[in-house]
Amino acid sequence: MFEGKGIKLRINEVATRDGLQNEAVFVETDDKVQLVDQLSGLGYSKIEVTSFTSPTAIPALKDAEAVMHRIRRAPGVVYTALIPNARGGERALECRVDEFNLVMSASETHNLANLRMTRQQSLRQLSEVAALALGAGVPVNISLSCVFGCPMEGEVPQTAVLDLVGRFASLGATGVTLCDTTGMAYPTQVFQVCASVAQAYPELNITGHFHNTRGMGLVNTLAAVEAGIRQFDMSLGGIGGCPYAPGASGNVATEDVVHMLQCMGYDTGVDVPGLIGAAHELERLVGHELPAQVSRSGERLKRHAPPAGFEEIQARALARDTTPTT
Ligand code: COA
Ligand code: ZN
Repeated sequence: MFEGKGIKLRINEVATRDGLQNEAVFVETDDKVQLVDQLSGLGYSKIEVTSFTSPTAIPALKDAEAVMHRIRRAPGVVYTALIPNARGGERALECRVDEFNLVMSASETHNLANLRMTRQQSLRQLSEVAALALGAGVPVNISLSCVFGCPMEGEVPQTAVLDLVGRFASLGATGVTLCDTTGMAYPTQVFQVCASVAQAYPELNITGHFHNTRGMGLVNTLAAVEAGIRQFDMSLGGIGGCPYAPGASGNVATEDVVHMLQCMGYDTGVDVPGLIGAAHELERLVGHELPAQVSRSGERLKRHAPPAGFEEIQARALARDTTPTT
């Protein structure tokens, strides 16, 4: 159990979308572009660069076009963006995103609060946007919010989740992301839900997306790996959260998850020292300490100097062995 044995896991960075959308400061376009370019060299499968949402709803990402146009695209990395409606889809297409990441919620209340639509209305929009993307040869992933619980409704029935995932598959989506929007998921639930979705829709590429609101992000990631999930969203520094989900806080931190997975023998392909360097840069950009642990503590084999006076402590301890006792 939990033995990595070189199993390949694909890592998606969402700090510049899920992360920055929840920050009080507006990170300048130049700084966003520079951060994405820095992340592009670290071994990710995918980077969620921005979102094509209403600038009134998400002012932090109002420069989506400029960012998408100016980043340098590294070969092998998928540059995706979150899209809530048809208008967002048209904007994304003009920017030549590599993938459309559409979004809706498994909870009616959260869907209304976040997207100002009923789930039925969202499904109609998604169908239109998916057709737009597929017609242009762009693959579609759909992120489903509140899969493991809604901060306003409580438990979300698994039947609703399975039903929506089925509809996404019939719209032509090739990937679905199961999102724990406000950190309500717990490991046994994650294992059960992920296994059920993967079993019902084996043709879909399922991604796990966990927030660390209740400290269960790392263990939920492991539970999803055990259930066969091989792709994960995470956010550098552990920033993030949906501004329209009460009580939301940061995603599980990329440096913490990748560090753990690599210790266990999983192959993420992501460079941990590079992540730590990028997290320090992100901390400077957002202007506050980040919740992640590993960017502060360093990797587990980081060596510290012994305490002051250590040589004297050692000499006195060794002297006890040579001093005859009476
Ligand atoms: N991009 C840019 N502008 C958009 C847009 C988009 N994707 N969608 C709508 N707009 C504009 C409209 O053009 C309109 O502008 P106007 O007032 O100048 O005419 C205005 O926004 C309102 O349009 P409407 O269709 O009535 O949208 P709404 O106010 O009902 O908001 C969403 C619906 C989906 C656009 C909005 O709630 C949204 O962007 N939500 C995203 C939330 C999010 O990203 N949450 C975190 C991630 S889960
Ligand atoms: Zn999220």
